[in-house]
Amino acid sequence: MSTSEDLKWKLTNYIDNKNYNFSREKILKICDESNVDDAYNTISKWKDYKPTPLVNLVKLSNKLKLNNIFYKDESKRFHLKSFKALGGAYAVEKTTQGNKNIIVATATAGNHGRSVAWGAQRLGLKCKIFISEYVSEARANCMRKLDAEVIRVNGNYEKSLETCISESNKNGWEIVQDVAWENYEYVPKLTMAGYSVMIKEISNQTNQYITHVFLQAGVGGMASGAIAGIAKYFKRIPKIIIVEPENADCVLKSVENGSLQKVNIKKESIMGGMSCGEVSLVPWKILKESVNTCTSVTDENVDLTVAMLRNKIFSDVEIVGGECSTPGIISLIACAEDSEIRKNLELEESSNILIIGCEGDADEDLYNKLLSTGNKKLLK
Ligand SMILES: Cc1ncc(COP(=O)(O)O)c(C=O)c1O
Repeated sequence: MSTSEDLKWKLTNYIDNKNYNFSREKILKICDESNVDDAYNTISKWKDYKPTPLVNLVKLSNKLKLNNIFYKDESKRFHLKSFKALGGAYAVEKTTQGNKNIIVATATAGNHGRSVAWGAQRLGLKCKIFISEYVSEARANCMRKLDAEVIRVNGNYEKSLETCISESNKNGWEIVQDVAWENYEYVPKLTMAGYSVMIKEISNQTNQYITHVFLQAGVGGMASGAIAGIAKYFKRIPKIIIVEPENADCVLKSVENGSLQKVNIKKESIMGGMSCGEVSLVPWKILKESVNTCTSVTDENVDLTVAMLRNKIFSDVEIVGGECSTPGIISLIACAEDSEIRKNLELEESSNILIIGCEGDADEDLYNKLLSTGNKKLLK
């Protein structure tokens, strides 16, 4: 692994959770264990369903002196290229319950909307998707191809969500949102349950006990869905480490304070799906006591990591990992290369690490740009 001999990557921030108190029972009550069961039973029967690969990053584990680094490759999730395919589409099926007259609506940074649009298309339902001015046309076109009407809203993600809610209330559309707010918890719980399917698959794909899991977070839905899966399917509870962009570290700030904190995003991260200023309500109930550690990272090594995944620097196989697939790896490398953090996290030669490779080239234009600048850095 010559090109990464000098991987001296740094975290922006690192904190341990003083309120850590993992309880399988509590977690499966919040997410609702019956949803977790139903999500796997339902999704595993969908046409073309197959578990996504669990790739062993053998070269990286040798370099970092760890036993195994497993990378769950969600670029292969149906044809949607991200784990989000498991959440929105499942929630559409559950909330509409065969009623063909329902029009579904959602606000999205891209991948969740794609999942809702696909879920609606599968069931022959009409679908309205609200996007902010920051969502690329490439992502918008993916949703149009799935027959959704895409409505662009001036302003950021929050503004697109506000518009989605007011228009849906006016027109009687069914909101299928992955974010929870007061009195809107059922649908976000369904999306989280959908994400837990990744962990069910992993529990069948390896018999090694996972010791550490690195989970990316935006509003925390993916992380808490994965944690619900861990509570349900893993025999031993691994250390759980959250990763966020440095300018959108709302989980870290909330865990540090022991209460929900809003972050004012000064600069949007290149990791668009994770550039969120507020933790969602249901995920927070799970995250606040079940994560061991929170970390944040810069955008600096995102393109390089995209190129390293693609050029087999970490593994024997080529991996197509988009921008949000990179921070788990970036954080792991930074943690393992810092002797104090390594010791604190008990990262050892017997450790088996799990990283969720959340997305592939879901935004092809951005992916190609990152790959190109990353390749140039690799050649330096
Ligand atoms: C593409 C993408 N969008 C969004 C997110 C964030 O998910 P959530 O907002 O559920 O925390 C991730 C991963 O963390 C991601 O890979």
